[in-house]
Amino acid sequence: MRSLGSPHLHLSSVDSTNNRARQLAGAGAPHGTIVTADFQSSGRGRQGRDWIAPPGSSLLVSLLLRQPPELLPLIAAISVAEICGPAARIKWPNDILLGEPGKPQAKVAGILCEGRPQEDWAIVGVGLNAALDLDQLPDELRSRSATLGLESDQRAQLLEALVSSIESTLRLPNDQVLAAWKLRDALTGQEIGWLAGDSEQRGTASGISESGGLLVVLEDGSQVELNAGEVHLAAAED
Ligand code: BTN
Repeated sequence: MRSLGSPHLHLSSVDSTNNRARQLAGAGAPHGTIVTADFQSSGRGRQGRDWIAPPGSSLLVSLLLRQPPELLPLIAAISVAEICGPAARIKWPNDILLGEPGKPQAKVAGILCEGRPQEDWAIVGVGLNAALDLDQLPDELRSRSATLGLESDQRAQLLEALVSSIESTLRLPNDQVLAAWKLRDALTGQEIGWLAGDSEQRGTASGISESGGLLVVLEDGSQVELNAGEVHLAAAED
């Protein structure tokens, strides 16, 4: 039985579906509420960045979960990757990448999980380039972006698939969530850079921890665990 996706508020335009879902959460909306939009005037990404999507080009959805699981960011990433096909990979913590043969992988979806732990709810915000014409993007984003190449009116079907996918992944025990995530891991074995305060650090990504942190081996052989909320992977890796 369907537990997510109702009530569903669809807006032709909104500042940010995450903002609207947060308001609804604070006003007592039930577990499973979703907000979708054709256009966001102030779509938000991780690390304070903007999320840009021309009208009708993308699946823009925010889902309210009450009593969210600890591994929610990973669960969301697996669920989105599933609907993007077997080639989709996840760049920690939850960017979804797609590649064409001979080309570097590019971002097809981003996920912004925001919560209010003291009230025991979280919002999963997904921006998925479903029907995006890459030529509509600013130059600096175009080469790093991918699209599913669907028609705009196929977004409703994609939303159904996403909701089902999240429902299924939420039912997995943690060890299976970690295993599913590892199968799609785009970073393991890659040299990565990140900012720790003002200093840039480098190391080799070596998987994720049981709590979903990124494990990185430093040059001296020691291992550190990076937390998604604290770490900003350097621009070259972004
Ligand atoms: C990222 O990759 O930085 C995360 C992007 C998340 C964008 C989605 S679009 C729907 C929802 N509403 C927002 O304002 N942001 C998320």
